[in-house]
Amino acid sequence: MPGYERILVASSKGGVGKSTAALGLAAEFARLGKRSLLLDLDVTSRSLDLLTGCADNALFTFADLLSGTSPETTVTRPFPSLPGLMLLPAPASRRLAELEEERGTSAADLIREGLDKILAWEGFDILVCDTGGGLDLACAAAPYFPFILVAAEQSQTSIRAAEYAASRLERCGGRAIRLCVCAFDLSAVKKEKRAGVIEMIDASSLQCVGVIPFDPRLQKIQDAGQLPPRKSPVTAACRNIARRLMGYDVRLFDGIPALSRRRRLAL
Ligand SMILES: Nc1ncnc2c1ncn2[C@@H]1O[C@H](COP(=O)(O)OP(=O)(O)OP(=O)(O)O)[C@@H](O)[C@H]1O
Ligand SMILES: [Mg+2]
Repeated sequence: MPGYERILVASSKGGVGKSTAALGLAAEFARLGKRSLLLDLDVTSRSLDLLTGCADNALFTFADLLSGTSPETTVTRPFPSLPGLMLLPAPASRRLAELEEERGTSAADLIREGLDKILAWEGFDILVCDTGGGLDLACAAAPYFPFILVAAEQSQTSIRAAEYAASRLERCGGRAIRLCVCAFDLSAVKKEKRAGVIEMIDASSLQCVGVIPFDPRLQKIQDAGQLPPRKSPVTAACRNIARRLMGYDVRLFDGIPALSRRRRLAL
């Protein structure tokens, strides 16, 4: 699929699983042998340095890139066991506000300036960019990303929010915009009568690129700053999305036994 080398993950709603999806996707591209750069542009609740356990040793952020430090120097390699994965943490909101004042410019312009610098760098094959809830900075970044993944939880309101996000991103220059269903809980379909996959796909005008299952162990893993293990359904789902974006024919629930075994219920 042309354009998959630059992927923006966005949503208008907070807490729907964007950072989990962005990290999982970037890690899977790295496992597939790509030099995978994960960029955190969530200024208000940056989390990827925490989720990768490198909050204390990530010396540079996107703000340093804006101040002239080279992309090569600013990126951190959070997992020695996964050298293909690189992280550029988000700037602290206060630092971004200082830069806006110093330069007499807007945060959106600073985001565009930083993205220009990153895209001029040849040190990566894939760029996966996480953004915050709310869409202002995602809109500024949208034209740089031929491929946008809108994250939604397993609820009708989240799907409506995804529709809204997609139409705003489209107006800002977003092109291939796809739906990613996050934290899909199979047991809630029956017990709580929450939406199944088909119901969510039906309720959305967006093409669905993947369903990331709910993994009850994830919170603990993320608190420890680790990647979900290979056998986690989150890892399998992100691998499916990465491979599908690369043009492979991958079924929605490939490698996710919990969902493929109970496919009828999930759908
Ligand atoms: N597949 C999943 N299984 C279990 N928990 C999940 C899953 N995806 C996300 N979560 C949990 O949901 C919460 C929100 O996830 P995440 O931080 O990825 O969302 P977000 O959209 O990036 O949030 P924010 O808008 O605050 O940046 C976290 O506690 C995370 O552990
Ligand atoms: Mg986040």
